[in-house]
Amino acid sequence: MSNPIRVAVTGAAGQIAYSVLFRIASGQLFGKDRPVHLNLLEIPQAMGTLSGVVMELEDCAFPTLAGVTVTDQAAVAFDGIQWAFMIGSRPRGAGMERSDLIRINGPIFVGQGEALNRSADNVRVLVVGNPCNTNCLIAMNNSDVPPERFSSMMRLDQNRAKALLAGKAGTPVAAVSHLAVWGNHSNRQYPDFENAQINGQPVTAVITDLPWLQETFVNTVQERGAAVIKARGSSSAASAANAVLDHAAAMMEPTRAGDWFSAAVRSDGSYGVDPGLVFGFPLRTHADGSQEIVQGLSLSTWARGKFDHVLNELRTEREVVKDLLKKS
Ligand code: NAD
Ligand code: LMR
Repeated sequence: MSNPIRVAVTGAAGQIAYSVLFRIASGQLFGKDRPVHLNLLEIPQAMGTLSGVVMELEDCAFPTLAGVTVTDQAAVAFDGIQWAFMIGSRPRGAGMERSDLIRINGPIFVGQGEALNRSADNVRVLVVGNPCNTNCLIAMNNSDVPPERFSSMMRLDQNRAKALLAGKAGTPVAAVSHLAVWGNHSNRQYPDFENAQINGQPVTAVITDLPWLQETFVNTVQERGAAVIKARGSSSAASAANAVLDHAAAMMEPTRAGDWFSAAVRSDGSYGVDPGLVFGFPLRTHADGSQEIVQGLSLSTWARGKFDHVLNELRTEREVVKDLLKKS
């Protein structure tokens, strides 16, 4: 077995982590021959709960789990790590929007962004805590880690969109491809059915019910997080953890030829998005592990309206946290 990969998970005593940790420790993400050392970050009040999670990790006897470090210090958690899963933050409750969390959770990503300077040169950072795109912007702007190593999670939205389209078309989920979710992980996101495909055909040729696509589909994806909260009494956790693993795998493995996946990364100005904003784009991963923003997708006037709506939302979020953006 090779040297352990060092992975930090913040919010390690929380709901999402309770699903993520066991899947990472089992070798599902980095492979059955790659040992993993987990650095678990929590606030002091959650250490008791976290000790129980650590007992359970031990009790799984995963051959790939090389060790666990538990800490309430970000500088310790991020020391020498190759992956940071930044989950730790407050979830919203019923009746709230994710952006209502911005001044509660945003400050967490100032100090943790700085602490990421202790990570390995090849670190990758995934921000999950909401509002995740703007929290990612904050972490990125407070860190010397190169911006291209940061991303935030649109994958749960992509997965939701694929499942809905597959259900409507009566096809397996794997038949749905080329699914871009533009913009923000919010109820203004635009899940792009115009450029998506089912069995290699445009979605609009397979599902000809345009009102369903423009209204039911888009609204259902946009509001799915709130629907889960209403039904479950707390926010999505297992599906979010699943999306974390999907996202991380998509960042490491070459994308299937011609296809793309969705994640939020720092804009380079593509599609008219302000450079520096963390925005959901269609991405491809190359064999060397680098990502490119897929260029040249066309958007109808109707879709561009949705796009501009979510772009403006992210501009507003940036304005609300401008005092937390040290480098801007
Ligand atoms: P949770 O309340 O169950 O767990 C969050 C954990 O974070 C808690 O244990 C808490 O003690 C810890 N925490 C709080 N502040 C911290 C800090 N400064 N450092 C380290 N840990 C800290 O919540 P959850 O269900 O696990 O959700 C976590 C976050 O993920 C929420 O903000 C939620 O809205 C978000 N989320 C995002 C997506 C997405 O697609 N981006 C999906 C689901 C949930
Ligand atoms: C989700 O999309 O399920 C999460 O972001 C949780 C939420 O607040 O909706």
